[in-house]
Amino acid sequence: MTERLLRYHASRWDEPVITEMGEPGRRGMMFDGDSGADASIPAALRRKTPPELPELSEPEVFRHYLHLAQMTLGMQGVSLFGTCTMKYNSPLSEAIAWRPEMAETHPGQDESTLQGTLEFIHRFDLMLRELSGMDQFIFQPGGGADAAYTNCAVIRRWLAARGELGKRDEIITSIQAHPCNPATAATAGFKVITLTLEENGYPSLEQLKAAVSDRTAALMIGNPDDMGIYNPDIREWVRVVHEAGGLCFYDHANFNGVMGKLRARELGFDACMYMLHKTFGAPKGGNGPSVGAYGCSAELAPFLPAPVVTKDDHGYHLDYDRPQACGKIREYFGNAQQVMKAYAWTASMGAEGIHEASDLSVLANNYMDARLAKIRGLSRSHAEIAGPRMEMTRWSMAPLQQDTGVSVLDVQRRMTDFGIDAFWLSHEPWLVPEPFTPEAGEMWSKEDIDRWIDVLAAVVEEAYLDPGTVKSAPHRQAIHKLDGSALNDPRQFSTTMRRHRRIGNPPADAS
Ligand SMILES: Cc1ncc(COP(=O)(O)O)c(C=O)c1O
Repeated sequence: MTERLLRYHASRWDEPVITEMGEPGRRGMMFDGDSGADASIPAALRRKTPPELPELSEPEVFRHYLHLAQMTLGMQGVSLFGTCTMKYNSPLSEAIAWRPEMAETHPGQDESTLQGTLEFIHRFDLMLRELSGMDQFIFQPGGGADAAYTNCAVIRRWLAARGELGKRDEIITSIQAHPCNPATAATAGFKVITLTLEENGYPSLEQLKAAVSDRTAALMIGNPDDMGIYNPDIREWVRVVHEAGGLCFYDHANFNGVMGKLRARELGFDACMYMLHKTFGAPKGGNGPSVGAYGCSAELAPFLPAPVVTKDDHGYHLDYDRPQACGKIREYFGNAQQVMKAYAWTASMGAEGIHEASDLSVLANNYMDARLAKIRGLSRSHAEIAGPRMEMTRWSMAPLQQDTGVSVLDVQRRMTDFGIDAFWLSHEPWLVPEPFTPEAGEMWSKEDIDRWIDVLAAVVEEAYLDPGTVKSAPHRQAIHKLDGSALNDPRQFSTTMRRHRRIGNPPADAS
């Protein structure tokens, strides 16, 4: 089956972890002083016992990490990781971020020495205002979920200022909203009301009307959602919540398919968040690059956490004098290097480029949908919705599993044998069985998208002919199938080497 597909095989180095390597006395670097300790460190502050560090030469360390990189980064495949809007992260913006003017400044410096940094933060704030219609953005939150939490903190201060804190104690969301919405609402002390989906893929207006009351603090919702479904009644939803006296927060993580097409404020929303590591081209590391953008109306702006970057005739300022601020969400004013990368992406795209990228991402997704629909064993979520989806679509491999016993995770693992990165399945709860959510985006070529679909189609076909090969995949990765059971057992977590040495690898049922 694999004749025409690009095959991949990972490097494999059978090396121990670095803490188990080396020889006593071997060194990569020598420090001044007989004992190796810096004489300027007062005796009282010096360690009594040497740290348990591996002893290796510099070339050995270099070679070890090169091997690890070859094993883990060798693939650099096509990643259509849905809900994450994977984009090309330009080395140019990376290079700018590492310039000393950025990398060697500290956010605690006097603002007069940070004028360049504050200028692009302010400029990016203005761009996001343009895209959303909001009146002020901040970048203090440490990611999308943290921006949702910022929203809850702002709402609490807004309620307190109106004498309604404790009275309005409910936040409404949908079962399909990203879990950070109910989670942050609950963390901030609100009771969460979760609406369920109708046949058309979103909750009915009637459900919302039944849920709102004089206890409603806010609605927290994404649109389109992670299934690529857009709720066309959203204006009416906002009106209903406002009429009940609550606020509306737009989780705009899935902005790619609508950017430049709608503005959250014009739909009536009071606040929104964007994820710079999705839509705006900043790199997506594990859990994002530690910055989320939170924007709100002028009415809510006084409650934003300090400092807010402002501008007047004398330059740019860090405004800490905010008596009504909701308190700290995170230190300082945000991860400036990541904001710079998002600013660079947005400025280089321009308004027209952003519009076009949005169109392309929807087009690419619907091209992909048309091809996926022809593959046996797959079904589209909410089959009764005939029309096109937005920038992604949730699919299901339930028919494939029924026919062959091969699960969506088996298919995902087998695809890596052809250099294809894991796709996104679904946030919890899994409303769609055996879910998968590819997102083609605007930056992959048609050949890349075709190649991705070709590999998926070939693996599905293989599942019908030879399910055992798919179920035992991957076969060409550095490490084969891992036992994931420990992931859900905190007793088996060892986040440091010291703990690992202490607990070893206890069996799953060890107490
Ligand atoms: C719709 C939506 N909202 C919020 C988040 C949370 O963002 P973060 O992972 O940056 O905390 C995500 C992340 O995947 C998301 O898809």
